[in-house]
Amino acid sequence: MKKTLLMILFVLNIVSAEELRSQSCQFEPENEPSPFVSKATEMVLKIKPKNPTVLDLGVGTGRNIKTLLEKGATVYAYDSDPASIKLIRNEFSSFLNTKKLSVRQESFEEIASLPAADMIIAWRSLPFMEEEKFPAFWKKIETALGSSGIFTGTFFGKQHKTKRPLSSPKLFRLTRDEVLHLFNAFLIVDFQENMEYDEEVSKEWGGEQFEHIYKVIAKKKGALFTYNHR
Ligand SMILES: C[S@@+](CC[C@H](N)C(=O)[O-])C[C@H]1O[C@@H](n2cnc3c(N)ncnc32)[C@H](O)[C@@H]1O
Repeated sequence: MKKTLLMILFVLNIVSAEELRSQSCQFEPENEPSPFVSKATEMVLKIKPKNPTVLDLGVGTGRNIKTLLEKGATVYAYDSDPASIKLIRNEFSSFLNTKKLSVRQESFEEIASLPAADMIIAWRSLPFMEEEKFPAFWKKIETALGSSGIFTGTFFGKQHKTKRPLSSPKLFRLTRDEVLHLFNAFLIVDFQENMEYDEEVSKEWGGEQFEHIYKVIAKKKGALFTYNHR
């Protein structure tokens, strides 16, 4: 949906903040997984070929969980948007029936704890949560991932510039060092910083719009052992 139309519908109370949040951030094709997520999927299936447990935080249309479900993963899909939850329930009903998929309509800010996981996907979703609640949620992500657990996700950089209605939920931006600092307990497998001029949105909003994004795949470090030398 065009952003201007979306904003008008939001201002007229026809579209909710949740719908605005999910609709207004579709920079990638809706039906194909991100190449980073595909790479992380291959990694987790090598580490745990049978029945890995995967959490998708901000599942959206479910493009990043399709292959995982087809390859036998157990998937927990989270999203605060009822439209996303409904879509996932319809699209992946056979996996719901076999209990390979569990769908949870919860906002990150409300989640008390996350199940233990071999992989966590948070693609274009975490920067839309309340910034002050992010550090505590990041701890839950770290705790949920076991040793060699894979995280793949994105964060917006400080130059990220997307004009949004004042009333829409804010998004937060991190410096490169702040993003890297999150991964002290991880080995970074892939890290990309992209700065893209968004021509369509710039024209539509009448100003220079840039997507400044960090894309990450990281593997949780193993437990440290201490040796007693006698
Ligand atoms: C840009 S979309 C990305 C969807 C999907 N990860 C993808 O890559 O296609 C962001 C998703 O995160 C969800 N989301 C944003 N903020 C959230 C929050 N605080 N709690 C739960 N879900 C949230 C939105 O509803 C939306 O479905």
